[in-house]
This record gives sequence, C-alpha cells and structure tokens, in this order.
Amino acid sequence: MNDEAEELGTQDDSTSARQDRRVRIVAGGPIMVEGPVQVELPDGTVASSDRVVVALCGCRRSSIYPFCDTSHRRRCRRNRQ
Ligand code: FES
Repeated sequence: MNDEAEELGTQDDSTSARQDRRVRIVAGGPIMVEGPVQVELPDGTVASSDRVVVALCGCRRSSIYPFCDTSHRRRCRRNRQ
C-alpha cells in the first residue's frame, strides 16, 4: 500500500477485494447509503432500492418509510405579521 492510499484508508493492491460502503448521516435529514440496498424492517419485510444513492428516513415521518420522501423538511411556520 502506498502512503497516499494508506492515508485515505484505501488499498490499491489486487489482494484486497473489500470495498467499504459509505453511509452519510445528514443533520436533521436522511441517512444516505450507497445503493443498491435491501432494508429489513422490524416486521421482517424487506424494502429494496436499485438507486446509486439511497436516502433512508431517519425521522420516521416519511410516507414511503424506510425511504425518505423529504417530509423531514416540513416544519411548523410561525405567524408572521
Ligand atoms: S428523513 Fe426525510 S422524511 Fe424522514
């Protein structure tokens, strides 16, 4: 492994077939996962998506849970005068 690859946490040799899947948590929003994914829910059902990046709902407001439908963006508006 060269210094740059080691610094980035990657390996460039052919003996390593491992590729870590990246997950990004958006503050106040979804959990972004590199797809395709299959999500197993507590009741045992499995939801799947073939998208390149999948937004998983972290707020439980989505009508298409476990996937994000942007409902997390809706907030109560104050009366402005
Ligand atoms: S995180 Fe987007 S609807 Fe829940």
